[in-house]
Amino acid sequence: FEQMPLQVDINGTMRKLSIEPRVTLLDLLREQLHLTGTKKGCDHGQCGACTVHVDGQRVNACLTLAMTTEGCKVTTIEGLGTLDQMHPMQEAFIKHDGFQCGYCTPGQIMSAVACIREGHANNPDEVREYMSGNICRCGAYANIVDAIMDVKQ
Ligand code: FES
Repeated sequence: FEQMPLQVDINGTMRKLSIEPRVTLLDLLREQLHLTGTKKGCDHGQCGACTVHVDGQRVNACLTLAMTTEGCKVTTIEGLGTLDQMHPMQEAFIKHDGFQCGYCTPGQIMSAVACIREGHANNPDEVREYMSGNICRCGAYANIVDAIMDVKQ
């Protein structure tokens, strides 16, 4: 397949890439850039495991063609915090046990950050509604809501 040029800021670093136009943002992140914090659950927009931010907006990376991010700022879980200095939402998930197996957690945290930023964390019901696209097979939902409400305060 023909390769096309793509310039995109990923976690604060401008990348000059060459990709096939059919490649999703999820596959670009995981397969080409080895940013495997972003997870592939369903690969068709049903689970939220692949949630990242594009220009501050939450998106499912599996439904986003990488080419559409030309000139954009993409933030993945790797760009949110570091081991030395975690993002407050990462700390809150640990404090409240907002996970069990951890597979959905990067997507949950990216959605959780967007939930507060977009003003949808005024009460637990609002949080549950906003977070309804992020599925957790272990059922950590109650603790995830607690974590978000904690950061909101
Ligand atoms: Fe993208 Fe499930 S992998 S929504």
